Amino acid sequence: MSNYIIRLEEKKDYREVENLVRESFWNVYRPGCSEHYVIHMLRDDPAFVPELDFVMEQDGRLIGQNMFMKTVIEADDGREIPVLTMGPIGITPELKRKGYGKELLDYCLEKATEMGFGAVLFEGNIGFYSHCGFDYASKFGIRYHDLPEDADSSFFLCRELIPGYLDDVTGVYQTPQGYYVKDEDVEEFDKQFPPKEKKKLPGQLFD
Ligand SMILES: CC(C)(COP(=O)(O)OP(=O)(O)OC[C@H]1O[C@@H](n2cnc3c(N)ncnc32)[C@H](O)[C@@H]1OP(=O)(O)O)[C@@H](O)C(=O)NCCC(=O)NCCS
Repeated sequence: MSNYIIRLEEKKDYREVENLVRESFWNVYRPGCSEHYVIHMLRDDPAFVPELDFVMEQDGRLIGQNMFMKTVIEADDGREIPVLTMGPIGITPELKRKGYGKELLDYCLEKATEMGFGAVLFEGNIGFYSHCGFDYASKFGIRYHDLPEDADSSFFLCRELIPGYLDDVTGVYQTPQGYYVKDEDVEEFDKQFPPKEKKKLPGQLFD
């Protein structure tokens, strides 16, 4: 890892970042991917946090990105607890597993902490996120929306930014609506990018 900077995303970066995210997620979780369209839409969402919309740049090209959204935990005692959710986060394919993702995420979390946010929750693989201080959200007493009680929730992760922020909270986390996109809209948007083959691969979570 060398010679990189982390900075806020600018308008001029939008298409390069969308292409980066497309390359990064392509065929990883499903044949093709939807994340480039998701970020295209999220930037205009009222829950989007522009102060935490970061890109990683090396030798004049973008090699990573991450973004955050505001959401809430609907607490069992009736309160709404403001929290952040995160992603998509992506590193360009040829630089994966070299430490850039952890570097970028640690930086973003530091900035989110400085802004005063209390906790970050999202869906992800503990294998990577445990390196940045995340644990299973169930350990914090937070449940994932629409998930039966006996279902596996190990994909649902949490990190407090303010220690003890969730100490007296149990409740249900809500994924911001902006993350839900229609397959046909993704298909249409994807036509703006260079053709790329969709493949069914082992380990994908969705058809
Ligand atoms: C996930 C991602 C952002 C991680 O960034 P990265 O630069 O590749 O990861 P790092 O090199 O910083 O990883 C640090 C450690 O986390 C763990 N890790 C990284 N990626 C992992 C993965 N996909 N599964 C399990 N553990 C992982 C490893 O222990 C790694 O250390 P090691 O390589 O020495 O074993 C990047 O691989 C990526 O863009 N993947 C495709 C898109 C994606 O899945 N995004 C996340 C959606 S939730």
